[in-house]
Amino acid sequence: VGEQVAASRIAVIGAGSIGVAWAIVFARAGRSVALYDVDEHRLVVARKEIAETIADLARYDLADDADRIQARILYSSDLQGCVKDAIYIQESAPESLPLKRDLFRLLDNQAYSHAVIASSSSAITISQIADQLTGRHRCLVVHPGNPPYLLRIAEIVPAAFTNVATVQAARTLLSSVGMLPILVKKEIEGFLFNRLQGALLREAYCLVRDGVATVADIDCIVSEGLGPRWSIIGPFETADLNTRGGIAVHAERLGPAYARMGAERGQDDPWTPVLVATVVAQRRALLPLGQWRDRVAWRNRMLMAISRAKRLALGSP
Ligand SMILES: NC(=O)c1ccc[n+]([C@@H]2O[C@H](COP(=O)([O-])OP(=O)(O)OC[C@H]3O[C@@H](n4cnc5c(N)ncnc54)[C@H](O)[C@@H]3O)[C@@H](O)[C@H]2O)c1
Repeated sequence: VGEQVAASRIAVIGAGSIGVAWAIVFARAGRSVALYDVDEHRLVVARKEIAETIADLARYDLADDADRIQARILYSSDLQGCVKDAIYIQESAPESLPLKRDLFRLLDNQAYSHAVIASSSSAITISQIADQLTGRHRCLVVHPGNPPYLLRIAEIVPAAFTNVATVQAARTLLSSVGMLPILVKKEIEGFLFNRLQGALLREAYCLVRDGVATVADIDCIVSEGLGPRWSIIGPFETADLNTRGGIAVHAERLGPAYARMGAERGQDDPWTPVLVATVVAQRRALLPLGQWRDRVAWRNRMLMAISRAKRLALGSP
């Protein structure tokens, strides 16, 4: 029990772009953070970067009391000192399998017995990193968007050997610091974030290659069109709200055109009736058709708020 009471701190391992950003997330939410790096000079730079970022966040009303936030972060190159009383460890070292495997072996040996050990890894799975460890049941991937103090989602990607209590503890902790954890049910390459990003980026490259549009024009279509919409609702809800009758009608009308576009790229993943029925059932559970019109009006009002914020931020018309 004594050990449990003592362990309340968060340890962030690696003080690069992502480690620094995680330290801000946790400290801003009132948690004590130990930020570790092998490179002592990096820790000096990290302290300065964190001070500048917290000041910027405060300017946009996204953080208060910069001094108190900074005071919650301990900068240290003593790994054992950082992890020994941490309840949650967010490993954010470089994306290298041998490096992460070695590091996780150390973390599993030195961490408090009930600590959750999470990796920020973008592509390497926890199955690859932690399969040989005694404490592998308490290891998982928690992959953030960059930077996590602005993008609230975090992908939770457990391995088959990760236990349910670990997943639940990670979810609870992330929610408590203002993040939105999303469970990825299978360890697929790219998880969800980069799969979706990759689908768009692959098509964007094809369009430039085929001389259909310039790089600037494709970026503009996203930043002024798809992006603002997606900052409020995702692609499924977009399809649902853009067609009277909802996503079932959308799939029937536009499914064949999207299938032809996919075929042009060598893709053969038809929206079968069973798949469409699954998507429709999930959408209707989230939004009964009787509320469709109100939701469209809400979407439009939110787009108005986004347009106003963009105009203020960018000075655009
Ligand atoms: N940059 C992104 O957009 C992004 C987004 C999500 C996830 N990630 C993932 O987060 C992790 C970190 O990425 P990053 O962009 O912050 O990298 P980075 O290169 O900016 O930072 C890595 C830090 O780890 C330190 N380091 C090196 N060896 C170490 C060790 N053995 N122990 C502790 N620290 C060590 C380095 O000194 C450096 O400060 C990677 O796994 C990456 O895939 C990155």
